[in-house]
Parts: sequence; structure tokens; C-alpha cells
Amino acid sequence: MTKQIQFFDTTLRDGEQTIGVNFSIEEKVEIAKQLEAWGVDCIEAGFPVASEGDFEAVSAVANAVKHTCVTGLARARKGDIDACVKATANAAHKQIHVFIATSPVHRDSKLHMTKQQVLDTIKDTVTYAHQFFDIVEFSPEDATRTEHDYLCEAIQTAIDAGATVINIPDTVGYTNPEEFAELFQYMQKHIPSFDDVTFSVHCHDDLGMAVANSLASIKNGATRIEGTINGIGERAGNAALEEVADALYVRKNYYDATDNINLAETKETSDMISDYAKMPVPHNKAVVGANAFAHESGIHQDGMLKNPNTYEIITPETVGAHKTTLPLGKLSGSHAVMTKLNKMGFDVDRDDMKKIFPIFKNKADHTAIVGEDDLRNIMKQVKEVVA
Ligand code: KIV
Ligand code: ZN
Repeated sequence: MTKQIQFFDTTLRDGEQTIGVNFSIEEKVEIAKQLEAWGVDCIEAGFPVASEGDFEAVSAVANAVKHTCVTGLARARKGDIDACVKATANAAHKQIHVFIATSPVHRDSKLHMTKQQVLDTIKDTVTYAHQFFDIVEFSPEDATRTEHDYLCEAIQTAIDAGATVINIPDTVGYTNPEEFAELFQYMQKHIPSFDDVTFSVHCHDDLGMAVANSLASIKNGATRIEGTINGIGERAGNAALEEVADALYVRKNYYDATDNINLAETKETSDMISDYAKMPVPHNKAVVGANAFAHESGIHQDGMLKNPNTYEIITPETVGAHKTTLPLGKLSGSHAVMTKLNKMGFDVDRDDMKKIFPIFKNKADHTAIVGEDDLRNIMKQVKEVVA
């Protein structure tokens, strides 16, 4: 059966953990509205107990957003949960996200807690959160570096206490797609209540595998994906949600999955985050980079002019980006140059190109991109040569 995938956006919480990024409350509200237009199912608006500003931002987003579920993050502490209850009080749809680390290095060095103490804390705090929220998401932080048997015990404890969503964070981006697949198969076998709850993944990009890990998880049982727009976040960032959404669209049959994302709003959403985060999107970034739909080499340009399917698996219009471009440079062929000249209003044919193309090549050898002004100059030179 086709799976329904939920998109959980944490641009305003984990995304804001990017060094140098600090969204104002007004920007957070605007971003939340744009995320709603893009079609995410849940917005993690902040960590209410962390600061007054974060509390206010979560409240402001909860007031502003109409259809999307709003969540706040809470450590496994009652004070954190109380702050989330207050901050999300006015949300039309809400949930809470409670986390505690389960891996040996976090238990021993950060929390100074035994396995049993962590289990007891999960039980107490998830039970407490469940009194206030119908949807309780629980994350065993650093899940992917946690002993598998203990991870399953922690997750079953959370489910027994009332968790309805279990999120598997690859907190330090350590895991690869094959291991994610194995982990899901293991959990399916060893967690008695696996089928009773929603499984989510939250992947970081330290080894550049966050999107691949998210997709591998979808293939193996996850139905919720957490990430950020443009992949912003701690260190190397989070899974770029626009890439996950695009991959699910392009490879629909392979993943047999559907979602609520309105892809045509993708570029607008990415531009807004880039602007407010003051983080330019790399030109070669998948889906939303300036070059994602630009073709430079002669062979590619010729193929694109004959049939765009040769070198594009998705049209730029699908993700709300500008049209495909065929920038002219030293690798461009005569066909692409002639097509561009025709578009500019010059009535030139293949025969004319025998004179024009060598002048074009000479220019292209000394400049990165031959623009329209250059082409007009080239046409002037051709006329002078002919006259
Ligand atoms: O990366 C992480 O482990 C987190 C948790 C709070 C889910 O962001
Ligand atoms: Zn994270």
C-alpha cells in the first residue's frame, strides 16, 4: 500500500542552531506561514524552556499557523514539558517532542546516568507529557550509536508510557543508509509495539548522508521525516527537506510513497530561508541551486534542445524555480548558439553559423559566459566582415 509520508520541519529549532543564524520572531512567523504553504505536516518552532525569546517565538507560531501541527522541544524534564504546554496553548494542532540521550557515551559522559535511570526518566516524563498532548513524540538522542537491544527497550518504554511517535535521531550523522535499513528491520522485529506508532527519522549530515539515510528509512518503515530547508543546522546541518521531497516525487514508484508537499513552493521557501539565515545557497546545490537547471556543455545543450528529458529529471517549474538555462561558454555547440541568436531575433541559419561560430569560440575562450551583449557585438563583427 502507498505510504503517506509526513514532513516534520525543524528549521526554526535545529536549523536555528546553525552558527550565526538567529531568526527574529517576525521572521519565524513568516517562515512558519511559508512552511505551511509548502505543505509540511509539523513545524518544530523552538525550544520554549531555552529562553524567553524561544518561548515567545513558539507561542507566536502557534497563534499564526492554522492547519499545521506545531511542536516545541523538551528535554525529559517536567519544567521543559510545562514550558511547551504553555507555549503551544493556542495552537490549533499541536504535539510535544521529548528527548533524552540513550547512547553509552551520552549516558556516561553527559548525563551521568545508568541505563535504568534513563529508562525510568523516559517512563516518568513521557507519562507526564501524555497528560497534556495527544501526540507525544519521543526521541532517544544519538539512537544510532545506542546498543540495539537497549534502544528497543527504551523505545518500548516510551510507547508504554504514551508516546505516539518515535523519532530516531542520527544525532552525529554517523550512520549510513545500509545500517539505517538494518536498524529498522531490527526494531521491527524487537519492538512489540512497532506497528502501533509512527516512526520518524532525524538525520544529520556530518558524512553527507542525511538525505540518503532519510530515504533509506522510508524504504524500511519510517513514515515521518525530520529536517530543515536548505539543510541548515548544527555542524554540517540536517537532512535538506526539499531534496527528500523532490526525490520522493521523482522516484514515486520506487518509494511507493506520497506526501502533502506543494513542490511549486520549494524555491520560494528556500529563498526565504537563505535570506533570513544570511546563508547563500551553493550554486550546485540539488533542487534549489542556481545551476540545478543550467546546462553548459555543448553535448548537454544539444540534447536539451532536442528533448529536455535527456538531461533533466524534473522541470524547474515543478519546484517553482526559474526556467532552464543554457548559458553559452567555451563548451557550447553551434546548435545552442544558433538557437539563442534566433531567440534574440537574429535570423541566422546553419550556413550563417559557419561564419559566426568561430568568432563566438574566440570570445568564449576568453570569458566564462558569453552573454547577450557579447552576442550582439559578435553579430556586428560578422556584418562588418561580410560588408
Ligand atoms: O539531533 C538530535 O538528536 C536532535 C534531537 C533533539 C532530536 O536534534
Ligand atoms: Zn538534530
